[in-house]
Amino acid sequence: MKILTILGARPQFIKAAPVSRVLRKHMEEKIIHTGQHYDANMSDIFFEELHIPKPDYHLGVGSGNHGKQTGEMLAKIEEIVLNEQPDYLMVYGDTNSTLAGALVAAKLHVPVIHIEAGLRSFNKKMPEEINRIMTDHVSEYLFCPTDTAIENLTTENITHNVFNIGDVMYDAVLYNRELAKEKSNILAEAGLTAKNYHLITIHRAENTDDIENMKNILDAFSKIEEVKVWPIHPRTKHKLADYGLNLGDVPNLKVIDPVGYLDMLTLEANAKKIVTDSGGVQKEAYFMKVPCVTIREQTEWVETLSGDANILTGTDTEKILAAVQKEVNPEYKEVFGDGQASEKIVDLISKK
Ligand code: UD1
Ligand code: UDP
Repeated sequence: MKILTILGARPQFIKAAPVSRVLRKHMEEKIIHTGQHYDANMSDIFFEELHIPKPDYHLGVGSGNHGKQTGEMLAKIEEIVLNEQPDYLMVYGDTNSTLAGALVAAKLHVPVIHIEAGLRSFNKKMPEEINRIMTDHVSEYLFCPTDTAIENLTTENITHNVFNIGDVMYDAVLYNRELAKEKSNILAEAGLTAKNYHLITIHRAENTDDIENMKNILDAFSKIEEVKVWPIHPRTKHKLADYGLNLGDVPNLKVIDPVGYLDMLTLEANAKKIVTDSGGVQKEAYFMKVPCVTIREQTEWVETLSGDANILTGTDTEKILAAVQKEVNPEYKEVFGDGQASEKIVDLISKK
């Protein structure tokens, strides 16, 4: 059996690492890297650190508006699918690379396997929400991380070949947590002490692409007295430069380049709180039992909201501040599976 896997953006490399490891014990896999993310610290570092097999194809699509970026991927992926004739095409999550892969395969009648299916924010202004809905509706096998995701698909009348296998990101965390303790030296490198800082990540278009939102967010960060560390996403860095907003004005803030996965796990595990708008980072905060504040109005990961383990603030400065300062003591539950999602996916595909 031959699987053609589409990867393109940072979180997809991390999700694919555990799945690929198991998959290759049982079947042939070929990887297409669309090139959506291309900086060494947004791409290569994950392939090296997580021992993800080198992509068989690199499309070098790069950045651009949605139409240009997705369109270029469609044309290039189509050629490869026609040549490779895979049994299945596998996509992860909700990026433009996900949508491009799914659309090509569906039109060529190659069954699509969607990992992290069924997530919904119910906000169609998010490009990710469009990508998820479209991908789920053309997929043949839908692997969901939570019961909520299954319910979302049921509401949209998608019930065939839908499985809750748990979250592959949980597999990745369990596999790499101890390794991170051994190998990462990021706390010393960044001059941080455990549980004495907040970790920040911001990159959602709905935040970065609006100067007022970014001003409000930075105002909140200025009012948080504790040390803060922010591995900054290139999108955010470019936008702040365009707006003329200077992070040097925020007291006690250490801005660093994007870090590798082992360093990120270390920063997360040792943070006092995590302040983010990332999907994956919200979940990792939950896995690590570190309280999270999410600078968004909605989340797909509703399970994390229980007991204020994760608090949604939107971009209101005072709400962000109040959430960061709030003392919480949540009860963390096993709602993201048992860390064996990759095995379950491969097992289910093998039986088809
Ligand atoms: C993309 C995904 C988003 C995901 C995120 C993970 C879409 C629509 N969005 O958002 O769902 O959460 O990846 O990080 O697919 N850039 C660089 N170097 C890089 C990559 C990007 O400088 O290696 C800069 C470019 O200025 C680019 C901008 O970041 O225009 C945005 O990149 P893009 O891949 O379009 O979207 P992300 O914001 O990364
Ligand atoms: N991540 C990382 N280095 C960083 C920031 C994030 O390794 O500097 C990891 C993080 O641990 C998580 C994933 O990247 O596994 C989340 O990706 P991102 O926030 O870019 O996208 P999203 O999950 O929002 O789609």
